[in-house]
Amino acid sequence: KAAQKDGYDHYMLKEIFEQPKVVKDTLAPRLPMDQDDIVLDNITLTKEVLEKINKIYIVACGTASYTGLVGKYLIERVARIPVVAEVASEFRYRDPIMDENTLMIVVSQSGETADTLAALRLAKQAGAHVIGIVNVVGSTISRDADDVLYTLAGPEIAVASTKAYSAQLCAMYLLSIKIAMELGKLSKDAFIELRKELYLLPEKVSQVLSQVDDIKALADKYINSKNVFYIGRGLDFAVSMEGALKLKEIAYLHAEPYAAGELKHGPIALIEDNSLLVGLTAHEELYDKTVSNIKEVKARGANVLAIALEDNKDISKIADDVIYVPRTHWMFTSLLANIPQQIFAYYISVGLGHDVDKPRNLAKSVTVE
Ligand code: G6P
Repeated sequence: KAAQKDGYDHYMLKEIFEQPKVVKDTLAPRLPMDQDDIVLDNITLTKEVLEKINKIYIVACGTASYTGLVGKYLIERVARIPVVAEVASEFRYRDPIMDENTLMIVVSQSGETADTLAALRLAKQAGAHVIGIVNVVGSTISRDADDVLYTLAGPEIAVASTKAYSAQLCAMYLLSIKIAMELGKLSKDAFIELRKELYLLPEKVSQVLSQVDDIKALADKYINSKNVFYIGRGLDFAVSMEGALKLKEIAYLHAEPYAAGELKHGPIALIEDNSLLVGLTAHEELYDKTVSNIKEVKARGANVLAIALEDNKDISKIADDVIYVPRTHWMFTSLLANIPQQIFAYYISVGLGHDVDKPRNLAKSVTVE
């Protein structure tokens, strides 16, 4: 077992450190340098059908559903098609409106999650086109979807998803850009710029991972927090959902994500001395707005740990601690901003003596309702 873990203490840590490779493996084959296009081998959706699509549903469970939130933001922004991102266990029971002009994207690491599979089947019955973003080759969802975009993350053993989520984000970046290009919403020149940025991502992931000791020190500092709030706006809000889930899953700490602008509509009443706020500020066009929310929370006695882009150093005047991530194109910040959250949750779980790879009450794949 130790050999399988390559010397790491847990599969989760091993999988966290595999992310530069996973990101590269998922992106590079789809971005050949000799073509000014994204090549998605298993996608049969034609330009003609795509042009008629007037609504996209992105449906998934757990961590994969947060990939869906990122996808909603990106696709609406770059392809200008309305997107609803929803958890499968709700979607399947509300008689959703779909027809042959609907595109459904399902996201699943295992490709076996019961609710996600049921949502896919509903979509197919209604005549919608279904694209699966799936990790396990040959899984039920990969077989039942019309098209598959595989995440090339390799087997994920730890129950809490890390590298599969990063690979899903990469797949979602590719799909968003591809849809926008097909619809003539994104020029070749703009694509070439984005491709350049995508090629830089594995190295930037490594730069975040190189801060592991600093992030461990922060986990040790905040290990006794009782209530942890994750806030962000836009793409950062989607990332904050995943950060809070990771802390709940493996550290068993009470952690809640909130859209930063919603704080004053209720949750701010929960803030007291020694609450911990993880403030995400990587979605730069909303930076000032989130910073003002962080100040409001700080003024009420919370400790603030910010995750920020490397040159937004003024955040250090407000936050108690800051983890910086490299700058990238705004579309791709979610990948880099999430990685410190994985490491933070990992070391809190280890510090509290929990079974990191097999957290209580959880299963890797949920094949019952
Ligand atoms: C379970 C796992 C989660 C995962 C979710 C969806 O609850 O514990 O880590 O995000 O299922 O799984 P899927 O295989 O569909 O991505």
